[in-house]
Amino acid sequence: MSNNTSVNSRWSSNFAYILAATGAAVGLGNIWKFPYIMGENGGGAFVLVYLLCILFIGIPVMMAEVYIGKQGRSTPANAVAKVAQQNGRSKNWAFIGAMGVLAGFLVLSFYIVIAGWAVAYVFKSVAGDISAAGGDAQQIGELFSALTSDPKQLLAWSTLVIVGTVVVLANGVTKGLERVVSWLMPALFVLLAVIMLYAAVTGDFAAAVNFMFSPDFSKLTINGVLMALGHAFFTLSLSSGIMMIYGAYLPEGTSIARTSIYIAIADTVVALMAGLAIYPIVFANGIEPSAGPGLLFVSLPIAFGTMPLGGIVSTMFFTMVVVAAFTSALALLESSAAYLVERRGLRRKVAAIVAGSGVWLLSLGTIGSFAGWEFAQINAGAMGHNFFEILDYLTANILLPLGGLFITIFVGWVIQADSLKHHMGLGTKTFQMFSKSVKFISPIAIAVVFLNAIGWLSI
Ligand code: TRP
Repeated sequence: MSNNTSVNSRWSSNFAYILAATGAAVGLGNIWKFPYIMGENGGGAFVLVYLLCILFIGIPVMMAEVYIGKQGRSTPANAVAKVAQQNGRSKNWAFIGAMGVLAGFLVLSFYIVIAGWAVAYVFKSVAGDISAAGGDAQQIGELFSALTSDPKQLLAWSTLVIVGTVVVLANGVTKGLERVVSWLMPALFVLLAVIMLYAAVTGDFAAAVNFMFSPDFSKLTINGVLMALGHAFFTLSLSSGIMMIYGAYLPEGTSIARTSIYIAIADTVVALMAGLAIYPIVFANGIEPSAGPGLLFVSLPIAFGTMPLGGIVSTMFFTMVVVAAFTSALALLESSAAYLVERRGLRRKVAAIVAGSGVWLLSLGTIGSFAGWEFAQINAGAMGHNFFEILDYLTANILLPLGGLFITIFVGWVIQADSLKHHMGLGTKTFQMFSKSVKFISPIAIAVVFLNAIGWLSI
């Protein structure tokens, strides 16, 4: 079959693409993870490093990935192989694409569990459980641990998330993905803006701004720098195959540079807005910013319990988290589903179901980690103490940076610069900047930070 290795769907417009890619980028990473890792790493200095990583590494890597996808017009592994061959290089570079699809698959397996918590919290907010606790830390703590230690609840909520994802994807790129995202993304922005205003009015906005934007470098460790870099990859959905596959659906005339910059800006704005929505509330209630993963699900609900309109705001807040997570889950499953369609010849519906079932099975490892199942408790030292922590560390801090490293080496050194410049349609200046990043800045920065953090190098 001639079309067995090519992708035929196209976004119906540039705007649809930007919305879908922003939907992929904006997710739990922005609203759940970024605020708490910023808190754990001292605030301002971490934010600054993170912004630099987005600008000098994230955007160029995104452009490189979209380029590979658009040029190869296939799922990631095939796209990389095709681009390699067009440049007279070995097909074996395909491993970069395969690694991405694998990383996306692994990320999704724990992503649906955390997204499930957010769904549960929407229901708890509506049922009045959050306001009923009246800000009692112990009661909220128990609410959270009752949820996270109960495998039945965890399983029910995460199953709901993956089933929803499969249903949308089964309808295809334009009829499923695009249509849903074009409703959900505007809703997300509105919700976030309203919550931020609420936080600014009722909370300690000045303290939040101060925490996020005045850097204290004494609080930043090398591991913090690795986390900022790893998070720049995670939040932009890089190295997980997705920007390649979304690039493969790109209409012919789209500017890769311009759209990548828009997507990165939108993603960063949402992350900063999420910080500015959460931290005023945190500080006004005397909560520690370094509360970790529980920041969103414990600290905030404690605050909501004492605040005016807390129940409503809590409902809006967790609805927003669900929306953000869902549009990312769609993207995460897309790369596996598209792979099954292209490589295994499955029909779209079947592919979505098969990929979704695989993710669901693997998610049992994360559920077990929280529910205390024996098999999921694995001590891997700095990498974590259970299946979930190890998976999180392995993807965000190892697979994603490593994938980024290979992508930049491939685009910067393996393929021919003339053809790259021509196909990307960049001006000479922009191309020089891009080229400097993928040839030198990104690979060196990634390598140094990475080797340092895993202990092979120490600065
Ligand atoms: N960017 C997503 C977030 O911030 C997480 C993510 C990582 C992702 N890789 C992805 C989402 C690939 C979609 C596709 O939450």
